[in-house]
Amino acid sequence: MTQNASSKKIIDLPCSQKTNDDDVAQNHPDNYFRRDFVKYLAVAIPIMNLPLSSGVNATTKPERRPPQAGDRLTYFQKSKRGQIIKLSDLKELDKPLLVVPFDVENNVVKDGSRYNQILLQKLPSELLSAETKKRSDQGVIAYSAICTHAGCPVTGWVADEKNYMCPCHQSVFNPKDSGVVVSGPATRGLPAIGLKIEADEIILTNTFNSWIGFGKRPK
Ligand code: FES
Repeated sequence: MTQNASSKKIIDLPCSQKTNDDDVAQNHPDNYFRRDFVKYLAVAIPIMNLPLSSGVNATTKPERRPPQAGDRLTYFQKSKRGQIIKLSDLKELDKPLLVVPFDVENNVVKDGSRYNQILLQKLPSELLSAETKKRSDQGVIAYSAICTHAGCPVTGWVADEKNYMCPCHQSVFNPKDSGVVVSGPATRGLPAIGLKIEADEIILTNTFNSWIGFGKRPK
């Protein structure tokens, strides 16, 4: 647990890990790599944004395909990866869980791209905005785990405010209200993803509602 300048209690989530993206980002079919900016930042995290679905083609490896309707969710934690997460696995107001999509029809865990990493959480339904309720079920919400400022993993949970915080430059996002920015430097909210619950199973109903990463919307 860490504390920021204003002494809010921040709970750190397990940090998302390097995946193939970090090695092959420049060749990725979805790549909108910001080469100059990356050189400027000189950080290990690839900085890019992804279109919602364009750029994915027949040659895209199944484990790198973006989440889609019908996918289930599984733990990012390696020892539990492949285990489908159920509603009964989530405790209301627990810190968000880092998860990845699971294409159950083809038995593919989509963990080949860090841009598929998702924050999954159960909050009291009454705290959710009308818009957020539309894409959630029984208080369960899901957002991209990749910061829209410069692509860091969003790993902080500000428990008393029930917000997410990116540790890189302290952008704060409100998961109760569509992932909007509470404070920058990020200027765009976290992409959200719709879900429904059937017989205790959490099932995605679409893909992210916005592009992953930073910068302008890819063409
Ligand atoms: S990368 Fe998240 S605040 Fe800068």
